[in-house]
Amino acid sequence: MADRVYVFDTTLRDGEQSPGATMNLDEKIRMAKQLETLGVDVIEAGFPIASQGDFEAVQAIARAVDKVQVAGLCRAVVGDIDRCWEAVKDAKNPRIHTFLATSEIHMQHKLGKTAEEVIVMIDKAVRHARQYTDNVEFSAEDASRSDWDFLVRVTEVAIEAGATVVNIPDTVGYTQPFEYYDLIKYLKDNVKNVDKAILSVHCHNDLGSAVANSLAAVRAGARQVECTVLGIGERAGNAALEDLVMAINTRKELYDVETGINTEQIYPSCRRLSQIIGMPIPPNKAIVGANAFAHESGVHQDGVLKNRLTYEIMTPESIGRTSNDIVIGKHSGSHAVKNKAEELGYTLDGEQVQVLFKAVKDLADRKEQIYDEDVEALILESVYRRRD
Ligand code: KIV
Ligand code: ZN
Repeated sequence: MADRVYVFDTTLRDGEQSPGATMNLDEKIRMAKQLETLGVDVIEAGFPIASQGDFEAVQAIARAVDKVQVAGLCRAVVGDIDRCWEAVKDAKNPRIHTFLATSEIHMQHKLGKTAEEVIVMIDKAVRHARQYTDNVEFSAEDASRSDWDFLVRVTEVAIEAGATVVNIPDTVGYTQPFEYYDLIKYLKDNVKNVDKAILSVHCHNDLGSAVANSLAAVRAGARQVECTVLGIGERAGNAALEDLVMAINTRKELYDVETGINTEQIYPSCRRLSQIIGMPIPPNKAIVGANAFAHESGVHQDGVLKNRLTYEIMTPESIGRTSNDIVIGKHSGSHAVKNKAEELGYTLDGEQVQVLFKAVKDLADRKEQIYDEDVEALILESVYRRRD
């Protein structure tokens, strides 16, 4: 049986650190519920010590979902860890995620600590977190620029202190796939008791390599991937969940692992996030962009008409999109409008369909082309009468 790779979604924490992606409490809860439906294993709900608002959001999410683990992020200091536990403790399966930098540049210039002091702090932080729960993750911030033998020691100390997941982040998006593969393999081969913990990866996209790096790490034995919907996150963002999952599924023979993601919820999840943060999905975005399944050149169109597999490596249905993009307009019937709402992640009853249908017709009299964004806005305004 294929190994399981756990999907740790940090849309609501690292993703929210993306400029312009701030979400209010209701929006975070709506997104968390969608992530639960999508089938992620862990939702990182926020950084509770950062602000009262963050604390309350993490606590509310911990109480709002039950099929998924809820993690809070905290620095490796007692006060942060205590606050984090307060925020996540009501979750069915809470996780404390504590982190400390391990690269020379961070230890010296940011922390003002020696390597030995950092080791002591990691040990103390993980042991402190373990007093609350046996679900503790430790992240070695800036791991990809850390000394590899020091990282071996860090990982051993974290495991010995009780960490059940040890994360090796590429915090600044600096590594490259073959190098990261070697690093994960080095840890797998050299860390004592490495199998007592899950090795995790968390890749940023500064050089556009976040997804490729994460996939290389999976091949080397990482069994948790940290990612965000649409790849939002600090600076150039994080590895995009939809790209990672579809690469793993489409190239099973290369990765031989499986995730718990219900891929048909990928498109609705991306749309939901895009609507909440008001950031359109770029048309050329892999997997979920408007052009991802569109064929423009004559040669391609001819091929696809003869056999879709000539130019399509996955089906739109597999990610929750309809195959032949239903165009919504003046002539659409209520059935098409209902289907479009479902594709966007909204299940409407008969009465709601009629309200939406009328709103669509009214809009079609004023606007030549109706986009998914328009239909979604009509659902929120006419059917639910809200924007959040
Ligand atoms: O990028 C990073 O290193 C992080 C850690 C806190 C996991 O976000
Ligand atoms: Zn990060």
